[in-house]
Amino acid sequence: MKKVLFISLAVVFVYATQNLRQKALDKGLRPIPKDFATLKSEVDDKYNPLSIDKIKLGEELFFDKNLSLDRTISCASCHDIKNGGEDGKPTAIGYKKRANPSHLNSPTVLNTAYSKHLFWDGRAKSLRDQAKGPTQATFEMASTPELIESRVKENPKYSREFENIYGEDAITFDNITKAIAAYEKTLVTRSRYDEFLEGDENALTQEEKRGLNLFIDMGCKACHFGPAIGGQKIQKFPLREYNSIIDLTTTFDEKTHQRHFSQMHFNFEMYHLFPFKNIGGFLGKNGTRYFRVPILRNISKTAPYFHNGSVKELREAIQIMGKYQLGLDLTKEQLDALEAFLKSLDGEIVDYNLTKK
Ligand code: HEC
Ligand code: HEC
Repeated sequence: MKKVLFISLAVVFVYATQNLRQKALDKGLRPIPKDFATLKSEVDDKYNPLSIDKIKLGEELFFDKNLSLDRTISCASCHDIKNGGEDGKPTAIGYKKRANPSHLNSPTVLNTAYSKHLFWDGRAKSLRDQAKGPTQATFEMASTPELIESRVKENPKYSREFENIYGEDAITFDNITKAIAAYEKTLVTRSRYDEFLEGDENALTQEEKRGLNLFIDMGCKACHFGPAIGGQKIQKFPLREYNSIIDLTTTFDEKTHQRHFSQMHFNFEMYHLFPFKNIGGFLGKNGTRYFRVPILRNISKTAPYFHNGSVKELREAIQIMGKYQLGLDLTKEQLDALEAFLKSLDGEIVDYNLTKK
């Protein structure tokens, strides 16, 4: 009898896990590919085809400080690929220690291969366009297209590499940013979550699975989705403005999926647009409070959070999302599970063995 019970429990358990996996896949969550051919088929750009030589050239350029006016800053200065793909600072500091004038936080470059909108207001649609921004911004690398071309021409190794990839007279600003973009497309990370999606049921703990289930059912996934779990949309924040004035929140019952009314009270303090101090005053796309939905992979390494780096703790960021995007008062257990799930997204850059080819 005991045995029968045990077997049926095990069956129910496996069934539930398979269900969750299938549900995640059905809802459009996707693993990062293990092999380069699949990655290429998913992220290649017909205006900038990936090739191994171009990727290697892009890597050198990404780390080259000579591209900045005073030769002290490279892309990697603010996007440390070994540390979550950003700088860990509330706001970016560039040329001559100038801070970003809107107090913007450096987002991760990892997994942007899949992004449809780049920059906090989503103004760039491709990595090759994006790279034209930081090279020229006076508070980042403070260069000009002409200066960058001349700096690249100083190095005979580059001349050979550019010629080999693009033909003669190939050292142009456009080709430089294209090579950087090609390299960035290979900066993708895999974690236990990818193994789970590929069928290894034990790759995630029970707590992490609960978190994934909540992430889907509560509606986080409606905004944070795709292989990078973000970067696919621009969305309003805070979506539920009235939560800033009238604190109108509900709770989420995991079993019934019912929302229960939890509280309503007026917030007599001054009306704030954001549930944190918005130093820098940046208000998203054309001031409409639409922001590019951030990538949640490697989130535990990309603190502080939000466009201006106002929130230090991941848990607080999740709580704010629950309340201001979903109108939900998350319970301690729900926060624990969501936090555990998000942390399971911490991964390593995939080694596609490109340097050995
Ligand atoms: C001084 C620090 C700094 C430097 C140097 C820098 N960045 Fe950034 N990067 C930022 C900040 C801040 C943002 C967000 C700016 C905005 O939204 O207006 C950003 C945004 C990005 C994004 C968009 C990510 C997303 O999800 O929206 C990419 C990709 C990126 N940078 C790549 C690069 C590359 C490539 C270089 C070198 C050519 C570079 N960055 C140099 C700070 C920097
Ligand atoms: C309606 C769309 C939407 C929903 C739903 C949503 N988010 Fe977000 N999320 C955003 C946007 C937009 C931002 C960026 C806001 C900003 O920086 O000002 C963001 C930011 C975040 C951040 C901070 C990321 C960073 O790098 O700064 C985390 C963590 C996060 N969301 C997790 C969640 C979780 C967990 C849920 C579900 C409880 C959720 N989100 C639901 C749109 C959404």
